Amino acid sequence: MLEKVEAYKREIQEFKVENAEDLERYRIKFISRKSVVGELLGRLKDVAPENRRQVGAVLNELKNLAQDKFRALIDELEKQKTQQSSAPIDLTLPPVQDQLGSLHPLTITLNRIRKIFERIGFSVADGPEIEDDWHIFSALNFPENHPARDMQDTFFIEKDPDIALRTHTSSVQVRLMEQKKPPLRAIMPGRVFRNEAISARAHCIFHQVEGLYVDENVSFKDLKDTLYYFSREMFGKDTTIRLRPSFFPFTEPSAEIDISCFICKGEGCAICKHTGWVEIGGAGMVDPNVLANCDIDPEKYTGFAFGMGIERIAMLKYQIRDIRLFTENDVRFLRQFRTLV
Ligand code: FA5
Repeated sequence: MLEKVEAYKREIQEFKVENAEDLERYRIKFISRKSVVGELLGRLKDVAPENRRQVGAVLNELKNLAQDKFRALIDELEKQKTQQSSAPIDLTLPPVQDQLGSLHPLTITLNRIRKIFERIGFSVADGPEIEDDWHIFSALNFPENHPARDMQDTFFIEKDPDIALRTHTSSVQVRLMEQKKPPLRAIMPGRVFRNEAISARAHCIFHQVEGLYVDENVSFKDLKDTLYYFSREMFGKDTTIRLRPSFFPFTEPSAEIDISCFICKGEGCAICKHTGWVEIGGAGMVDPNVLANCDIDPEKYTGFAFGMGIERIAMLKYQIRDIRLFTENDVRFLRQFRTLV
């Protein structure tokens, strides 16, 4: 045993480190629980009792030597690192280019939407993403057994069926009408959640922008004019809109908003699926029941509302073919928006 101790002592004294791997090799061999030193100490109990004291002292000495050397090796490695990092700087090298970030395409799109509506007197409001049943469904006239309340569409919060992730920004309409009284004119952008399969055109987390205008004598014509103004400002002055009859529990009458495909100018392309039109949202006149639910007199006031998908608008504007690109954070995609604000 004593011969082995002598051999290990020599090995420890001569050990040199150039990198972290060398240091780790040393640690495993001489310091760790399963080290050679540990193994020798474990064998102390087999030494004859009369020699145990002397052998124990020798092994202790080996252990202390191993630990002192370990600390010295750590210092040595640190010193090497500092020397490397203070190597002389080559001033003739070209400078490292600034890595400028860019706004996310959804932020760019939302900023544009906001500016367009601010110009015609709409303010911006927001509300919570985790909502109660009243604001997502009940106040908006959804019947008790409406399929949108179904588990397949809505992410409910476990243990409380009254709380869910909002499925649309129409919940913010209700909050706004509860808090403020007409005249009301606001857009409400935000993130929404639906228990839906993800595909190139649909996601389970996406963004909408809601619009609401409530005052005396607000008419369907005001809605059409506003949407027409928006589509021209957003997509170009040749763009036109089409409203198709539809159904939403909270608007009557209701419509789907299509805009003319500004890419093929109505001639038909892959983006508009060769129809010449692209759907961007839903709209309608606020149902009198919804006004009453928010303590607004439906005899005195009327209003219009709309809700558009921000991803859909961005996909159309920038000809993005897959909605998943917005959340993948691939810099090759994001970089392309560097020049836009
Ligand atoms: C609504 O969500 C209504 N709240 C809109 C509304 C507001 C109608 C006010 C009337 C008055 P809809 O489910 O159709 O409606 O969604 C509106 C838009 O959100 C769609 O046209 C589309 O642009 C976008 N959208 C809907 N589902 C998805 C999805 N899974 N992924 C991406 N965008 C979506």
